[in-house]
Amino acid sequence: MESTQELNPSDSIFPTKDYIVLLREINIWQLTKVVLSNVNLTVESGEFVYLIGKTGSGKTSLLKTLYADLELKEGHALILGYDLKKISENEIPFLRRKLGIIFQDFQLLSDRNVYANLEFVLRATGWQDKRKIEARISEVLIMVGLEDFGNKKVHEISGGEQQRVVIARALLNKPSLLLADEPTGNLDPDTTNEIIALFRRLSIDYKMAVLIATHDHRIIEEFPSRTLECKNGKLLNL
Ligand SMILES: Nc1ncnc2c1ncn2[C@@H]1O[C@H](COP(=O)(O)OP(=O)(O)O)[C@@H](O)[C@H]1O
Ligand SMILES: [Mg+2]
Repeated sequence: MESTQELNPSDSIFPTKDYIVLLREINIWQLTKVVLSNVNLTVESGEFVYLIGKTGSGKTSLLKTLYADLELKEGHALILGYDLKKISENEIPFLRRKLGIIFQDFQLLSDRNVYANLEFVLRATGWQDKRKIEARISEVLIMVGLEDFGNKKVHEISGGEQQRVVIARALLNKPSLLLADEPTGNLDPDTTNEIIALFRRLSIDYKMAVLIATHDHRIIEEFPSRTLECKNGKLLNL
């Protein structure tokens, strides 16, 4: 059974407003060192946010904190209603189901077709009804512009198309937050633009909050939006 934690407004440090992400004075650790300190951040529904910074500046560590892959030790964090300080091991999969997570390397089953890759995820998260599965897969493929790609093998389609499949996969459980870590790192500039334009459209059409970590400043010039920077151990609002 899914359980979300009740926050009692009277003793909560969190405001009552419905934030997608709310971080207050968190410190992010890797092993024995603090990677980012005193991080404060709010992201609202439908916001489109870039996270920039040099390699090693802490972008991935921040994203991992948001999907509870890196344990929160200090500070307060509320993600989609989950308090990361109090989240239990068995709640983490439910949090991740409400998030769409997208990485640079596609992590698709390359010898299977597009449909099978998506079906695999739905079945792993408890979907059983074949017709509902077909309908949802068809919806997400339309959302990413790959409506006729179900039968294609992953290794037969281009890198940009593979990244669209990854995005479709992230959309399956109707997330209200997409987290993308260097999602265009392996793509050429034109394909990169198409992928970022797709994220923009999803954010606008479905009011999804989108947080994209990138070190590609060109993207931000092409598609300007709110930008955060990891620098010298701090998260800056640009
Ligand atoms: N699994 C890990 N174990 C130990 N240190 C790590 C690990 N992952 C990252 N780090 C360190 O944390 C810092 C931030 O890394 P990271 O969050 O990956 O930055 P970015 O994504 O901006 O390149 C770096 O100093 C890196 O070496
Ligand atoms: Mg990284």
